[in-house]
This record gives sequence, structure tokens and C-alpha cells, in this order.
Amino acid sequence: MRQVVFASSNAGKIKELQALLGEGWVVKSAADFPQIPEVIEDADSFEGNAAKKARAFAQATVLWALADDSGLLVDALEGRPGVYSARYAPTESERIDKLLAELKDVAAPLRTARFKCVLCLASPSGKERLTTGTCEGAIGFERKGSHGFGYDPVFVLPSGKTMSELSREEKSALSHRGHAFRAMLPELLSVR
Ligand code: IMP
Repeated sequence: MRQVVFASSNAGKIKELQALLGEGWVVKSAADFPQIPEVIEDADSFEGNAAKKARAFAQATVLWALADDSGLLVDALEGRPGVYSARYAPTESERIDKLLAELKDVAAPLRTARFKCVLCLASPSGKERLTTGTCEGAIGFERKGSHGFGYDPVFVLPSGKTMSELSREEKSALSHRGHAFRAMLPELLSVR
């Protein structure tokens, strides 16, 4: 069995990677290595944070390690909250409230936004590979749907549905993270 460690303890992300890789792979997570200290995401780019986490896990576990960093970029806010998406306000609900408040006077055609995900695969010997995935949409005026996490309830796709109205499989097929994972697949399959 081939092994890779995903530098995250988010069960949804681990499941998504396991489903993409299929049989023959053991996907370990941060939860399997409680002795590894939390990696502080203090870089000013998605690339910097993903690489910092992947590098730390590859060195500490002596396994190939994968890490992601992602966020929401809103055009009317000049790309904010961006790399600070998780820290834009204290709770998930407050983050959405703040976003809707900041956009309250912005008309529908100007509410365009995208999710971005950067994945980094790092080897214990120091090789690194980055892939990026994006997902285009717009910020709605109210929450809709009950699936997903983060900004999903207000992220409206070109179909008119919010990300929160999609099943896990539907989201994975078009999400920023799904695109970045699939772009990384050839690299992962070459890991020995
Ligand atoms: P992380 O990459 O898991 O640390 O995510 C950073 C932050 O970006 C999250 O806390 C969310 O606020 C936001 N985010 C990233 N991906 C998504 C998504 O698929 N849906 C909704 N919010 C997301």
C-alpha cells in the first residue's frame, strides 16, 4: 500500500482525497500524528501556507505529505478576505454576516467572487509540487442551503444554486479543492 499524509484533520478533505486516490492507498491525517505541533499559517499567500504545512509534515513523518490552503476572493473587496478567509471574523456565522454587511450596497452584477485552493505535495527529501484550483461564482444576498461549510451558503454558482445546496459529490466535481486535487493526481500516482 502506498501512503500519503494530508496535513489536516478535516474529515471531509481526507475522505475527498481517499475517494480520488481509490484502492491501494493509505491516507493518513494530522490526527494520526498528534505529536506534530500545529503549523501556524502566517504566510501572506495560499502557496506559502500550503508549502509550509506540507514541508513540516513531510519532514516530521518521513512520508510524502500533502497540504492545502484556500479562501474566498471577492472582486468588490479587492480580493478580500483572501488568505485571511478563516480569520475574517471569529465564527463561521459572523464571517458570513460581515461579508454580507460589507457588500450590502453592492449590486448583483458586481458581486463576483471565486474560491481558490492551492495544494502542495512535499517529499521527505525536499521535492515540492504545487497545483491550484479555482471556482467562479458570486456572493448572494442571503444564506441558502444546508451542506458544506464556511462561505458555502452565500456562494452562488453560475447555475443559481449556492455551494451549500450541492451534495458532497456535486461540490467535489466543481469546487476549487476538487480541481486542485485532480490536477495533483498524476504527481500523487508517481509517488513510490
Ligand atoms: P482552509 O484552507 O481549510 O484553512 O480554509 C480557509 C477558509 O476559507 C475557511 O475557513 C473558509 O472560511 C474558506 N473556505 C475555503 N474553502 C471553502 C469552501 O469550499 N467553502 C466555503 N468556504 C471555504
